[in-house]
Amino acid sequence: MKTHKLLMPLDMHLHLRDAVMLETVAPLTAYSFSGAIIMPNLVPPVDTLDAVISYKQRIMAAVPNDYFEPYMTLFYKNYDRAFLESVVDKITAIKLYPAGITTNSEGGVSSFDVEEMRETLEAMSDLEIPLCVHGETDGFVMDREAEFMSVYELLATTFPKLKIIMEHITTKAAVEMLDKFENLYATITVHHLILTLDDVVGGMMKPHLFCKPIAKRPEDLDALLNVALQAHPKVMFGSDSAPHPQHAKESCGCAAGVFTAPIALQILCEIFDHYGKLENLQAFVSDNAQSIYGICPEFKEVTLEKRPFVVPEHYGTVVPMYAGETIGWAIESVD
Ligand code: DOR
Ligand code: ZN
Repeated sequence: MKTHKLLMPLDMHLHLRDAVMLETVAPLTAYSFSGAIIMPNLVPPVDTLDAVISYKQRIMAAVPNDYFEPYMTLFYKNYDRAFLESVVDKITAIKLYPAGITTNSEGGVSSFDVEEMRETLEAMSDLEIPLCVHGETDGFVMDREAEFMSVYELLATTFPKLKIIMEHITTKAAVEMLDKFENLYATITVHHLILTLDDVVGGMMKPHLFCKPIAKRPEDLDALLNVALQAHPKVMFGSDSAPHPQHAKESCGCAAGVFTAPIALQILCEIFDHYGKLENLQAFVSDNAQSIYGICPEFKEVTLEKRPFVVPEHYGTVVPMYAGETIGWAIESVD
């Protein structure tokens, strides 16, 4: 049986939510990943030192038997330098959402006025706090990410020492930015390495594949696959696994988010194996992120096996990607 080992896998973009949902989903990621960057889009958002500390405690309480590091983030606002100095040891990044662009982002940024953001972004730059960005405008849905490239360019050139992570990129345009600006990096999800818009709405509409940013065109998929499979040193795996209860997905106002946490590593093995690039998966799921963020997760070794695995229909109230379907790789052991 073909196997593949991964050391210290990291999920550099993860939604864990809170309360019962947190208790359902956190153990699934903690089982196979060493750590994850935790998104702050709770209600209310994680935007104070107390909120960061107490949310981290709730996450740790939800994963009592596994070693797992939640790398905490703050919800971006125009914070002053003194506040950022007080919180820098407790966070790994700050996540910026354009206002209203996705789930629980109403308190985000409504205009990218560099002068208004200068104090915060200069302090982040000095304190070496990376800025993670949901890069979409409020334009036509297929063009939102490409339209946002001018904002990335403005931020990258105005704050050249600030590490800016383009989160969950979905377009060739975003891939091309990586080699244009030294301080731009990116995360890529597993579902955006598989889907185009056709898979979401081209036949019967698939609510469990609907997310923001939406999957794009075949040429975008090709560009994402190319940069992920070669494990370009500026790209990292970030699942954007975003659980919503089944009733919120299978409804006439479908919530955005694909729940991939329990199958992410297995599907990544399947993709990288399919293209004959398994040897590059370690860099994509851990090594690149360790270098970019300067983090050093504790040892964890995950052994995956090439054998059929039937994905459960549900995890609690959440339906995962590929629910009820057979995938080609399974987790054999975690040490
Ligand atoms: O599909 C998404 N779901 N995209 C996001 O940016 C947010 C996320 C969520 O929190 O549900
Ligand atoms: Zn997200």
